Amino acid sequence: MTNKNLVVIGTHWGDEGKGKIVDLLTESVTAVVRFQGGHNAGHTLVVEGKKTVLHLIPSGILHPNVRCFIGNGVVLSIPDLLKEIQELENAGVAVRDRMMISLDCPIIMPYHVALDQSVEQRRGNQKIGTTGRGIGPAYEDKVGRRGIRLRDLLDKEQLVFKLEELLHHHNFMLEQYYGAPPVTLQACLAASYDFLAELTPMMGDVLSALAGFRKTGASVLFEGAQGALLDIDHGTYPFVTSSNTTAGAISSGCGVGPRYLDYILGITKAYTTRVGEGPFPTELKDDVGRRLAEKGHEFGATTGRPRRCGWLDVHALQRVVEMNSLTGLCITKLDVLDGLKEIALCTDYEVDAAGDTTPVYEMMPGWETPTESVKSFSELPENARAYLARIEALCGIPIDIISTGPDRSETIIKRTLI
Ligand code: IMP
Repeated sequence: MTNKNLVVIGTHWGDEGKGKIVDLLTESVTAVVRFQGGHNAGHTLVVEGKKTVLHLIPSGILHPNVRCFIGNGVVLSIPDLLKEIQELENAGVAVRDRMMISLDCPIIMPYHVALDQSVEQRRGNQKIGTTGRGIGPAYEDKVGRRGIRLRDLLDKEQLVFKLEELLHHHNFMLEQYYGAPPVTLQACLAASYDFLAELTPMMGDVLSALAGFRKTGASVLFEGAQGALLDIDHGTYPFVTSSNTTAGAISSGCGVGPRYLDYILGITKAYTTRVGEGPFPTELKDDVGRRLAEKGHEFGATTGRPRRCGWLDVHALQRVVEMNSLTGLCITKLDVLDGLKEIALCTDYEVDAAGDTTPVYEMMPGWETPTESVKSFSELPENARAYLARIEALCGIPIDIISTGPDRSETIIKRTLI
């Protein structure tokens, strides 16, 4: 039996347009899996003109027969998960009977949110620019081996015992160090235990379920959140998220071993953006940057913050190809570059004695003919094709998909992946 497992990874700092591509590829798979991150992610899908923003639920959910999994590598905000389910149900999308959430998911508690916000405030102009959703502190508790996991809700007495310990610890920090109000046990139970009955039917052993798919030859899609340069180990530390966002996280984040991944797709925006603080060598603070932001509607799907915009950083992309063993690329938002006279590709960095980075650019001619909504490669303007060919040559892997607009239909598929 042949099955093909696909991975979708963002290649820069997130917001590459993964949601649309996952949604598109979901047509050919049995299940979609989230394996890291939390509701800091924001995946925007547009189907037949209707927009849906997902944060925690895998982007495959809009396909009625697909199963969706949240692996143990995801930190879970239970109220946010249930709110998202409710919103989908209100829109007529059935969720509960095809969702499984790992019993080993760490739970984001109210003290994690309070800590995230207090830590950021104290950092002042050194702040990371987090989404303020408690992601970092929840991963800290996990690694500190004191976190509350979904399975802990099954034993209330033990849960209360553990929570009381944690509250001593975190409230001490909140009150004594950050001067913030303490969090109550009641607030923690209200954000977790109180939803047990609603959650129980969705709780399960994700590793076994995914092993079952493999044995029957069913294809699975692994949906990365954020982007490779936000990876806690390989990203622009400390301006990163708290999880591994690269393909290697699949094994630890949902229990599927590395030999079972067949195709790893990197989603790359035709230019580069970043939300939050941190280095961004190709950032454009001029009219071109503002034009990219406006035309590309570059505002965060989770926080609404404006995204910083710049030229495509191929130098960083080359490292990302390597660290993820990318098979191919999907270029999104090509149409946002329409009408520019010249387009720059960053192929190297020059670092001076003080450690300041200056990008080295290769200039390419732009194109006048719009690429918006173009559905076949041969219809793209010659200069757009040359731009794509140069990216392929510099990265050493093919561009298999090109996205020319937000809708499912506005896509050029050069190679069928599955
Ligand atoms: P955190 O993940 O909330 O701790 O935020 C850490 C950094 O990751 C900040 O710069 C956030 O803006 C960024 N970040 C987290 N999730 C996303 C995402 O889905 N897209 C883009 N940036 C993100």
